[in-house]
Amino acid sequence: MTTGDISKRKAAEAAIAEVTSGMLVGLGTGSTAAFAISGLGRRIAEEGLTITAAGTSLATEAAARAAGIPFLAFDDLAAVDLCIDGADEIDPLFRAIKGGGGAMLREKIVASAATRMICIVDASKPVETLSRALPIEVLSFARAYVEGAIRCLGGDPVIRPAPSDQGNLLIDCAFGPIVDPEGLARTLDAIPGLLGHGLFLSEIDALYIGDETSVARRER
Ligand code: A5P
Repeated sequence: MTTGDISKRKAAEAAIAEVTSGMLVGLGTGSTAAFAISGLGRRIAEEGLTITAAGTSLATEAAARAAGIPFLAFDDLAAVDLCIDGADEIDPLFRAIKGGGGAMLREKIVASAATRMICIVDASKPVETLSRALPIEVLSFARAYVEGAIRCLGGDPVIRPAPSDQGNLLIDCAFGPIVDPEGLARTLDAIPGLLGHGLFLSEIDALYIGDETSVARRER
């Protein structure tokens, strides 16, 4: 296991300690969330933990089922007790860019439905200013229009070769340093055909940052 993986696993293991029997747990997507899924599977087998899970992607659903975690159909999801998910970047105000795995649309629904959201990361993810390319999900019909709108905002859109779980286009938009994430999010939210983006500005309640030997925990 790489040092990055050890760090991710440490953050994930610390986060799943918050899970108690009876919870509906939102499971994130990505390599860090995968450690939370396997850890919860282990707690179900070893401790008799009784939970139901809601997932943020088809890959997460498959991993959860393989780990023996009872799973709620996505369209039955209304409210979640605790969501545990990774991030691609997160700033000191708990504003994050997500969607490296292309799952940000479902991830935002689950995070928004959650009473509490814990973000789990390794030490490479915290940044002072969000600046990596921002993933957006776009209705195919609106591709040219949305690409033009992104360029007008100063972004450089690059379409991913594979579609989202919903069959829509995934486009990475490099804006450079995002100095006003709230303003950008409001603008993106108003573009017809743009179905979702990876700016998570208010959803995250707690941050667990793992390294090889320890976990730093911060509350909003
Ligand atoms: C999935 O679409 C993403 O939002 C992930 O949560 C994010 O990319 C973090 O992934 P890793 O844990 O693999 O770094």
